[in-house]
Amino acid sequence: MTIETEQDLQALKVIGRIVARILQEMMQRTEPGMTTLELDMIGKSLFEKYDARSAPMLSYGFPGYTCISINEEAAHGIPGGRVIQPGDVVNIDVSAEKDGYFADTGGTFVVPPSSALKNRLCHATRQALDHAVNVARAGQPLNRIGKAIQQVAKQKGFRIIKNLCSHGVGRSLHEEPKEIPGFFNPADKRVLTEGMVITIEPFLSTKNRIVDQLDDGWTLAGEKDNLSAQYEHTMVITKGKPILLTIA
Ligand code: CO
Ligand code: CO
Repeated sequence: MTIETEQDLQALKVIGRIVARILQEMMQRTEPGMTTLELDMIGKSLFEKYDARSAPMLSYGFPGYTCISINEEAAHGIPGGRVIQPGDVVNIDVSAEKDGYFADTGGTFVVPPSSALKNRLCHATRQALDHAVNVARAGQPLNRIGKAIQQVAKQKGFRIIKNLCSHGVGRSLHEEPKEIPGFFNPADKRVLTEGMVITIEPFLSTKNRIVDQLDDGWTLAGEKDNLSAQYEHTMVITKGKPILLTIA
């Protein structure tokens, strides 16, 4: 969507803050030995507390409140019986709707003990997000986002998962501009405009450039030894720095 009124902005800030708080609390409460279903039930109670609805559940019938993806799983992991282990790379993606407005956030962390590689992967992906946010400006080509992500990935020695994209958001979970690539695509002639509401969500990986859907119909995973990280913010594009909405 494109913001038209002050009320649009305020409503997006409300739902942005809610998803940010849910993500933060779920990350803090993650413990080894817990199943991803138990972690998702913490999410469920927080959705109820904040009177918000899970966006993937509402929009796509996703069988969980949040997406929880571990190690070789990159995105859309279904909460279930998988037990969280020490050393796991855990991604939680929280998106929700309230009063007809949607926001989307995500983050990755390592359940201790971590390793140098896992720390570098998380750090580089966060840097890729920061760099892309810093170049996203009204009037600039939309492909500057992918260019910025690619620069950081290359510099840090990681790969980009090419079939996971950033996207427009606001009045629904996924809307125009759809599929904002995490790599530089010179053929993409779209331009960022003032008031446009988008996510930026780089996915960096140690090995795989493509992730495949598992037989469960949702989970997108790489090979068994692949690791990936994603950080995501929802934001409003302006002539200056974007207004980040998914801030706790
Ligand atoms: Co998300
Ligand atoms: Co998203």
